[in-house]
Amino acid sequence: MDIPQRKLAEMPEDRAKDFLGQPKFSGKGFTILPEPTEPLDIDSPIFDQMKDPYTVRNFLVPRRPLVFEEIDDKDAFTYGTSVNTLDMPIKLAGQKEVRVPLELEADREAIQKWVNFAASNLPDWVDRIFYITTDRRRIRRGSSQRRPGIHTDGFQGARYQKKNPPDIVALVHDHVPFVSYAQSFDFTGLNTGKHDFHAEMSRQADESNAVPSENYKMYVFDAFTGHRAGEAEEDIERNLVRFNASYATYDFIGNTHNPLLDYDWEMVDRTIPNNLIKESIVDSESKRRTQLEQIIAKNRYVPNIDRRLQLIDFIKK
Ligand SMILES: [Fe+2]
Repeated sequence: MDIPQRKLAEMPEDRAKDFLGQPKFSGKGFTILPEPTEPLDIDSPIFDQMKDPYTVRNFLVPRRPLVFEEIDDKDAFTYGTSVNTLDMPIKLAGQKEVRVPLELEADREAIQKWVNFAASNLPDWVDRIFYITTDRRRIRRGSSQRRPGIHTDGFQGARYQKKNPPDIVALVHDHVPFVSYAQSFDFTGLNTGKHDFHAEMSRQADESNAVPSENYKMYVFDAFTGHRAGEAEEDIERNLVRFNASYATYDFIGNTHNPLLDYDWEMVDRTIPNNLIKESIVDSESKRRTQLEQIIAKNRYVPNIDRRLQLIDFIKK
């Protein structure tokens, strides 16, 4: 496959640096409606377990991300200009159309393919909120673009008294594969209100189960799929687009507001579950601390200045 590459010298300035909150939207946008597609014909616990409420027991069943599509217009995906967003709603619960700010035009193909997939494979897609995260940035050799450490997206911890069906997540990137772990994770005896499950995942992860993703392929996985960001082998600009289909309100301070949708959520700061960290076993706390230090050092995944200050505060303690 002929993969478009861009030399570092030709790259625009790192747009991530400017992203400390809400990007500037024109207020214009486009609507995407699902086009009929064949449901994905693959046996997977991702499909078997998507209708039932979240339970950590599901981590016992190994799973891997499934390829459901591929980006055709690779030049547009890689060289296009789109603003960075974080967990921005593009469809609210009960709606059947997706509203996207014009500034995300370069990611239109990915968005259309995600919507097609969701509408024909998630029986409850109308009831779920769709979120998008778009992240174009320069990555230096040896570092990763996003969240370090093995984790899952959509972990339902102590905050969720009543568990929702698990989040469904889709990802596509042009360079620097992410790595998933096709294995079971056993959390028997651990308590979501007390223990750091992501640290525990790192402990249990076996590198022989690590599966790297392929560039430009569109992957779907669920909230029980352990994965981590990959490290760049060279300085490169990477485009990552992520979708979440969730019952949850992603009302974190720093998430992007979509001016095309009519909603007004009270945004709250839940960056660090302080009680969780204090009560964690020493080993997991030190791992988490290392992760947070890496995040601060690289200024990544902490788009809001207040959250960053809070993290710095925590590390100094
Ligand atoms: Fe993730």
